[in-house]
Amino acid sequence: MTVTWTSGYGISEAHPFVEWGMKGSHPVHAPADTVTFGRESLCGEPARSVGWRDPGFIHTAFLKNLSPEKEYYYKIGHTLHDGKVVWGKPKSFRAPPYPGQKSLQRVVIFGDMGKDERDGSNEYQNYQPASLNTTDALIRDLDNTDIVFHIGDISYANGYLSQWDQFTQQVEPITSRVPYMIASGNHERDFPNSGSLYNGTDSGGECGVPAETMYYAPTEKRDNFWYSMDYGMFRFCVADSEHDWREGTEQYRFLDRCLGTVDRAKQPWLVFIAHRVLGYSSGFFYGFDGAFAEPMARQSLEGLWRRHRVDVAFYGHVHQYERTCPVYEERCVPDGHGQGTVHVVVGGGGS
Ligand SMILES: [Fe+2]
Repeated sequence: MTVTWTSGYGISEAHPFVEWGMKGSHPVHAPADTVTFGRESLCGEPARSVGWRDPGFIHTAFLKNLSPEKEYYYKIGHTLHDGKVVWGKPKSFRAPPYPGQKSLQRVVIFGDMGKDERDGSNEYQNYQPASLNTTDALIRDLDNTDIVFHIGDISYANGYLSQWDQFTQQVEPITSRVPYMIASGNHERDFPNSGSLYNGTDSGGECGVPAETMYYAPTEKRDNFWYSMDYGMFRFCVADSEHDWREGTEQYRFLDRCLGTVDRAKQPWLVFIAHRVLGYSSGFFYGFDGAFAEPMARQSLEGLWRRHRVDVAFYGHVHQYERTCPVYEERCVPDGHGQGTVHVVVGGGGS
């Protein structure tokens, strides 16, 4: 389990750690690393100018060798130079099932949530009022949730960095209790001449830096936000739709490996995730081009999904809910034979 938090203590001021243990046992300390980012690491406006806000220090600790599905207690702390410890509040989580474990596993997946003002105040680009419905419903139902995936378009800070603080504070009751996995969306990553596949300005100059620094994911390189994750009976192959995924790219090779190396006898559920719709959607902006997905997406990836018998693919970006039959090359195919993939759009998180 990974615990990440933000503080005002740099490494010269205090030593960050997490105290943790199984309930009733003697706690241990896991040291945390400390990173931050500067204005110069961002790509443009407004993130580098009027939207800039110092992000403080971001600490991450890894809690290892957990017993599957056991309840653990933890508390963040900072040891100051005089030996005094500044403590966070006590929290708890349930350790994940081991890969292949057969047990009840409840997964919540959505995209495009954002944040809103609790008191109804206006804020710049205030277009996610419904996010509070999702956040509050998740908090209410947390005892019935094992893991959450927020698959891109996360805070909609769009280069106004204080909005990341607002967002992370708003979802903290969720993220401090269950794993909160993210994917990278256009509002995290896209900016002209910054290496993103799409050249829009949707990240407001952030070009992925705040998101990939604040949220740890098991990626090889932080900016290449694709990763594999095993969780009980599931394997999740999370793509980064904002970097090139076409055949011949590094990401395509990763996806082939991720989808192809799972033991389906133990992990029967193979799930593909991406922010933009790489499969099927009737979103209006695809319709303008007479299309039902991002250009070139299915031509590149549908062979992979079929070859590796992907069960379900989830996307955000389109702010609605849609679900197909098991489909291959635009036709429904018989259910249960691994010939088609069910494509689900879950971009109705609140934006
Ligand atoms: Fe999006």
